[in-house]
Amino acid sequence: MTDGLVKISILDAEGTETSLKLPLDISMNLMEVLKGEGYPVEAVCGGMALCATCRIRILEGGEQLPPRNDAEEDMLDTLPDTEPEHRLACQISDFSKIDGMRFQLDPAE
Ligand code: FES
Repeated sequence: MTDGLVKISILDAEGTETSLKLPLDISMNLMEVLKGEGYPVEAVCGGMALCATCRIRILEGGEQLPPRNDAEEDMLDTLPDTEPEHRLACQISDFSKIDGMRFQLDPAE
């Protein structure tokens, strides 16, 4: 982490990996950042942990993140294909914890 920026990378459905630099103090969650960058994140529930269309898979750095919160856990629990690496991007807003992480878009159907 340098100059108040965190760097992450996103692997999209086409297999293209892109690096993003984000201001540490940005008042957005990761779902909002991904939408803003033009990724096809539906975010049907608007970030309420109720739809899982913002689901992502952690490829690297997962140990940096705090555990899922209750709402995130409850939503992911309802999906048969949820794996330990899955998170809801809308529930990730402390960007001091994501520097260097790699994510893959993996929305629930
Ligand atoms: S936007 Fe609906 S669960 Fe994240």
